Amino acid sequence: MSQNEQKQAVARAAADYVARHLPEGAILGVGTGSTANFFIDALAALRGRLGGAVASSEATRRRLEAIGVPTLDLNAVERLAIYVDGADEIDPQLRMIKGGGGALTREKIVAAASDVFVCIADDSKRVERLGRFPLPIEVIPMAARQIGRQLAALGGEAELRQGFVTDNGNPILDVRHLVIDDPVALETALNQMPGVVACGLFALRPADVLMRA
Ligand code: A5P
Repeated sequence: MSQNEQKQAVARAAADYVARHLPEGAILGVGTGSTANFFIDALAALRGRLGGAVASSEATRRRLEAIGVPTLDLNAVERLAIYVDGADEIDPQLRMIKGGGGALTREKIVAAASDVFVCIADDSKRVERLGRFPLPIEVIPMAARQIGRQLAALGGEAELRQGFVTDNGNPILDVRHLVIDDPVALETALNQMPGVVACGLFALRPADVLMRA
């Protein structure tokens, strides 16, 4: 199976999972990226059963609306039963690196509001240890250099993502060479750096289910 076929297969499996587990009329959380786009395609068949969706990016919101799934602001929703999203890397404990598409902050917010995080990842995303994929960090613009220096002290090499701002209007630092021995400790440390909006480590709130094709 090619990588795209795998993405499509896990996306369809996730749509089956949603059909089996999401109560009729409930609101679904939907992630961002090429695998999430395949999931949205597969959701078209279920749109009559959904009460609506909370999107983790403007791109996903537009795509959901285009197939007739109404989208809601997260502030209008108490909890989401299920959130379905992709990953750039996922380890055996279902901790992830996310944010290759730049939507990490909203993804983290929607994941935190969800009871079950279903990760849709093709085989290339599965790793024994996180850290080969550069870690994305969304930062407040004036803090970018300062944060870059703090990351250098941790052994990381931060590069400003060129020509990109997030849906929240902020830049992203992509950080190479970080040794991620303890993802929870690193996520906690990064969260405490002034000016970090969110980092792409999803270890404090990992996925609950890794969907297989
Ligand atoms: C978006 O910001 C990311 O977190 C995506 O979930 C991740 O990059 C996976 O994207 P693909 O499904 O396109 O590989």
